[in-house]
Amino acid sequence: MHGQAENRDMATVGLQSIAKSFGATKVLGGVDLSIADGEFLTLVGPSGCGKSTLIRIIAGLETQDSGSVAIGGLGVDHMRPHERRVAMVFQSYALYPHMSVRSNIAVPLTMSRMTMRQRLPLVRLMSRSRREIMRGIDADVAAVAAQLQLEHLLDRRPAQLSGGQRQRVALGRAMVRNPDVFLMDEPLSNLDAKLRVHMRTELAELHKRLGVTFIYVTHDQIEAMTMSDRVAMMDAGEILQLGKPSELYDLPASIKVAQFIGSPAINLLPATVGPGGRVELFGRPLARAVEEPAGSAVTLGIRAEALSIGQADPGHGARASFSARLRRKENLGSEFILHFDLAGPDASGVTMRATPASAALVQESSEVTLTFDEGLCHVFNSAGRRLEARDGSSRNTIVSLKAWP
Ligand SMILES: Nc1ncnc2c1ncn2[C@@H]1O[C@H](COP(=O)(O)OP(=O)(O)OP(=O)(O)O)[C@@H](O)[C@H]1O
Ligand SMILES: [Mg+2]
Repeated sequence: MHGQAENRDMATVGLQSIAKSFGATKVLGGVDLSIADGEFLTLVGPSGCGKSTLIRIIAGLETQDSGSVAIGGLGVDHMRPHERRVAMVFQSYALYPHMSVRSNIAVPLTMSRMTMRQRLPLVRLMSRSRREIMRGIDADVAAVAAQLQLEHLLDRRPAQLSGGQRQRVALGRAMVRNPDVFLMDEPLSNLDAKLRVHMRTELAELHKRLGVTFIYVTHDQIEAMTMSDRVAMMDAGEILQLGKPSELYDLPASIKVAQFIGSPAINLLPATVGPGGRVELFGRPLARAVEEPAGSAVTLGIRAEALSIGQADPGHGARASFSARLRRKENLGSEFILHFDLAGPDASGVTMRATPASAALVQESSEVTLTFDEGLCHVFNSAGRRLEARDGSSRNTIVSLKAWP
């Protein structure tokens, strides 16, 4: 336990070519990742992409086949989990049901500060040194309980707590070890929606207060977007993109990232490249041009908030038109998600974000004109990579998706 405080400023985490297979299944294909001291880094990605495996390798709960893990610049591959100065919080909380909240939080300290003998029930009553250690542990537990507002719950059993309270106990048990790195594997996924929003804020504040490194796993992209300094989006054992949340949202490197980040999911429409690299949507040229040979098939990605109802300003850039018919309005309270059908041969439909006021202007089954801002859409090549817009051709052009013919 010595040396923790001195190394507090050294809690970087470095992963080098981490590969892992379970039998014939390749789960991680050589992951490289550098996490800064004090950073909140989130791993996101679809179920089964290897997030838990990666975080368990950092914790030392799983051994990689090749590659190395460094914490604070020191290789930790030979270290057991409790020697790594990391603490892990699991989705399932993993609390001991027969123990009080106090004892649950104290577990890591009892394990590290007491000998086997001192933990025995009989020794408990007579040993003086044990009483001293206990006092120290009690003080540490009290300090953590105060930070997490658990003081009034210390004598309860886990079964007598709400989901959010249990999650705070699990956090407390991690905090009491005073780790340099917190590893959290979907810690909020067992909570109901409202509590999850609340705990999101609490975790972000806790991170700020403690100033230590957080590595956080979730497949909830809203959690990833709202809490993280950086997000690593994983798929099939690889990191597809690493960057600030806004970078993943505004400049997704690929269709997979664009589809995963953002809710509702980005609209994807089939398009082609015409003469001069101009992108053609349903046979009509947009203002957008890309460095791609004419005749190439591309995909146009349009965020739901880039669409709006109504005619484009006449004479305002290029026009593309295709038919859109309102299939369904989804009322989210503060806003609507409108689902449109398209008459195009391959396009199944588009979704659009709308204020309640603009949603009220359209009826289900009615035909409308949609417009979109080309500056807010992305073009992907046939391999799914995002293509840069050529010479400012993405700027501020409004395109109409004209009414049902
Ligand atoms: N102990 C194991 N033995 C065999 N296969 C495993 C083992 N642990 C994980 N896997 C497999 O490795 C792959 C990655 O699993 P992992 O738990 O890392 O995914 P994940 O990204 O955390 O998914 P989820 O979002 O569902 O939690 C999956 O295909 C899983 O079935
Ligand atoms: Mg997992």
